[in-house]
Amino acid sequence: MGTSVRVKIRPTSWKYEAIISTGSLAEAGRWAAKCLGRTESKIAILTNRKIAPIYLGLVTHALERTGFETYSFILPDGERYKNLSSIETFLQYLGEKNFQRTDAIVSLGGGVIGDIAGFAAAIYLRGIDFLQVPTTLLAMIDSSVGGKTGINTPFGKNLVGAFHQPRGVLIDPAVLCTLEQREITAGLCEAVKQAALAGGKLFDQTRELLDVFTEGDVSKVFTRKENARRFEQFIAAQIRFKSEIVAADERESARYVGPKSRKILNFGHTFAHALEKSTDYRYLRHGEAVGHGVLFAAELSKRLGLLDKDSVNLLRDVVRRCGPLPQIHHIAPDEIRTALRYDKKTSTERFNGFCSSKSESRESSRAIKFRHPF
Ligand code: NAD
Ligand code: GLY
Repeated sequence: MGTSVRVKIRPTSWKYEAIISTGSLAEAGRWAAKCLGRTESKIAILTNRKIAPIYLGLVTHALERTGFETYSFILPDGERYKNLSSIETFLQYLGEKNFQRTDAIVSLGGGVIGDIAGFAAAIYLRGIDFLQVPTTLLAMIDSSVGGKTGINTPFGKNLVGAFHQPRGVLIDPAVLCTLEQREITAGLCEAVKQAALAGGKLFDQTRELLDVFTEGDVSKVFTRKENARRFEQFIAAQIRFKSEIVAADERESARYVGPKSRKILNFGHTFAHALEKSTDYRYLRHGEAVGHGVLFAAELSKRLGLLDKDSVNLLRDVVRRCGPLPQIHHIAPDEIRTALRYDKKTSTERFNGFCSSKSESRESSRAIKFRHPF
């Protein structure tokens, strides 16, 4: 059972596989040995206080059974801990435990843990191996693949980081049973973003899947075998789309403009990051902010004459079906404008109000592939 997607970064020939298989967490040891090509090494598992009591024991046991010497470092839960201080304490821990270049880090968690683990792996001893075990829908379809790592700073989100590809990604969709419905909604918003960019089959597949998720109890999705298979295929299709973009433009080159430019993956993110920053990373889940951001970018594109009304309405409908998004009308426009100023995408253009969003809007409109069916 299960499926896999091969990610290949063209200029560097760096290759790894994303394995998507229900129940595979118990096989994390054999998988890690295959990805790393060794078992005589230490592995530091980075996770958080919410995930540790549910999954850390299983992963630790699987790794130790294969021969790895494991250590675990448990952070508090939350986007606000994706900061320099978490990196510093984790690096210090690795140093104290005498981690060498032949040792590795496993990220066990959502996008927050993945970004911190990846960044620490990128800079510890100038780069050690790391493996991604994503436990949220968002991390499975997006953040665990592609090698973007980093942290938030007082001046903005994800502004300090590195490109550092993992050695492998292990996805066990069964872990989504314990995820809150709100996190599923957040993940689905990122899925809709990618589906809108991909168009065609992925857009239809994503739309169809939304019905399964919005039926209510998430755990039911995985207790039915046919759902599990369908869901594995959905995650694989999402990753396949993302990996094609990453393969062509790993470093999000400023000069490369084209259908496979990594910049298109930022669809909705200018506004999303500004919303997150202006609410101190506490009010919105990242994916929820992306849901709002995608609609904002699409609306802006329409006003600029770059996207037709039917496409915007279709997108609005699909985002709505991901689940309820927190209201944002109480956030002061000035707060958002100030946050936009620090977005990394403003660096190439002089800032004037919403100009970074306008440039994103142009990128997005060029990239969006879905078309209104009527
Ligand atoms: P998250 O990591 O905060 O996880 C969401 C919540 O779910 C947390 O409370 C977490 O503890 C909990 N959780 C995780 N797995 C669980 C499970 N199986 N059962 C129960 N609870 C579980 O949020 P996220 O949405 O996964 O990731 C958002 C982050 O990812 C943001 O910081 C964003 O910037 C980043 N991101 C990075 C990339 C990239 O390419 N590097 C892409 C997209 C997003
Ligand atoms: N999530 C955007 C990227 O990976 O480029």
